[in-house]
Amino acid sequence: MIEDRKLVICVGSGGVGKTTTAAAIGIQAAMAGRRVVVVTIDPAKRLANSLGLDALGNEEKEIPKEKFTEFGVECKGSLHAMMLDTQTTFDELIARVSPDEATKDRVLGNNIYRHISDTLSASHDYMASEKLYDLHECGRYDLVVLDTPPMKNAIDFLEASGRLSRFLDDRIVGWFLKPHDDGEKKRGRSLLQAPGAIVYKLLGNVFGTDFLDEIADFFLAMKDLLAGFRSRADAVSQLLRDRQKTRFVVVCTPRSTSMEEARYFHRQLVERRMPGGIFIVNQVGRYGQTQRGEDMRYLSEPDRLWLHAQLDDQAEPPQVVAFVEKLESHFDRSVAMACDDRRAIEGLNGFAGRQCFVAEVPRLPDDVYDFDGLLKIDEKLFGKNKSNTSNLAVLRP
Ligand SMILES: Nc1ncnc2c1ncn2[C@@H]1O[C@H](COP(=O)(O)OP(=O)(O)OP(=O)(O)O)[C@@H](O)[C@H]1O
Ligand SMILES: [Mg+2]
Repeated sequence: MIEDRKLVICVGSGGVGKTTTAAAIGIQAAMAGRRVVVVTIDPAKRLANSLGLDALGNEEKEIPKEKFTEFGVECKGSLHAMMLDTQTTFDELIARVSPDEATKDRVLGNNIYRHISDTLSASHDYMASEKLYDLHECGRYDLVVLDTPPMKNAIDFLEASGRLSRFLDDRIVGWFLKPHDDGEKKRGRSLLQAPGAIVYKLLGNVFGTDFLDEIADFFLAMKDLLAGFRSRADAVSQLLRDRQKTRFVVVCTPRSTSMEEARYFHRQLVERRMPGGIFIVNQVGRYGQTQRGEDMRYLSEPDRLWLHAQLDDQAEPPQVVAFVEKLESHFDRSVAMACDDRRAIEGLNGFAGRQCFVAEVPRLPDDVYDFDGLLKIDEKLFGKNKSNTSNLAVLRP
């Protein structure tokens, strides 16, 4: 995944750790010598904070190599990060598929376009798929890691690339444009003779004929863009299905709803022949064992004595006992949760089968908000940072 993929896409339900995982994968690949860009859509700018950047924009920003050395690791490649700006991405898309400047200006200046693009660019998944295609094509990076937004409907992203070209389906555009085929002169007003004439008359009465002109103009201009949209949608969809280049990583937690969504997403990938097969179960509870492998469920006698000594000045022995009992019951709850997590992971392993790979990342004591935290995640995912052995690198099919 790290060594020869071009595109890694982290998907999963809300709050499971997609952004964290995407950043950690990016860091690992950059350390391994690749030129990496991590694209995030997280409006909370968590990735920016994690990477020590003040702000991320639609432009990629490089994370200085010193950042790595500060933490005792080396970046042999390079790491860039960016936050997806959906409106700019959409405008860029129009510019790219427009056959000429005049068409581009006509679309970008059209009020209906601005309206539609406001709505469409709010669909982050669509814009994300466009952006990652551009970044892949631009040649500046060996690997694009995409963090995706939490999805209401997990399959949205997989279907996103064709959304606009489907909307601009010939029959729909044709319906609007039928009366215009003989040129632009009659546009707008001639819509009034279209099959939906009554509707348009009504619209015209309410909104005025300028509005109808705008609509007709929009569809006329879009018609010229249709071929561009289609071939792009095909290219994006092909890239997402390319087993040599792309890998989807399904991130989840051991909680049951998250696991269910992960399975659902996996099935969707299989159905679409998209390259998945990696699950990262994040925030796994672990029940403590000391380094010597002792069960930490109950405080050992020396610990008890130590604790006693700490509290001796302020606390009466019964208070110490109560405190120890509280600690132990808290620990029991953690153990129970950790056992649930274990069962959930075993279940996922059974579901995934031998073709897939399930990696685990424990829940760290603190939130992951800085570079150090991301390196810790890396260590759990890929083994020791400073050696070549890694958990996921074995996955070079
Ligand atoms: N292994 C971990 N241990 C401890 N905290 C973690 C771990 N992984 C993620 N977190 C924390 O959990 C929170 C959610 O993580 P993250 O933002 O990566 O999730 P997300 O899937 O991108 O969320 P969203 O769906 O909102 O975009 C963050 O505060 C992050 O620091
Ligand atoms: Mg996120």
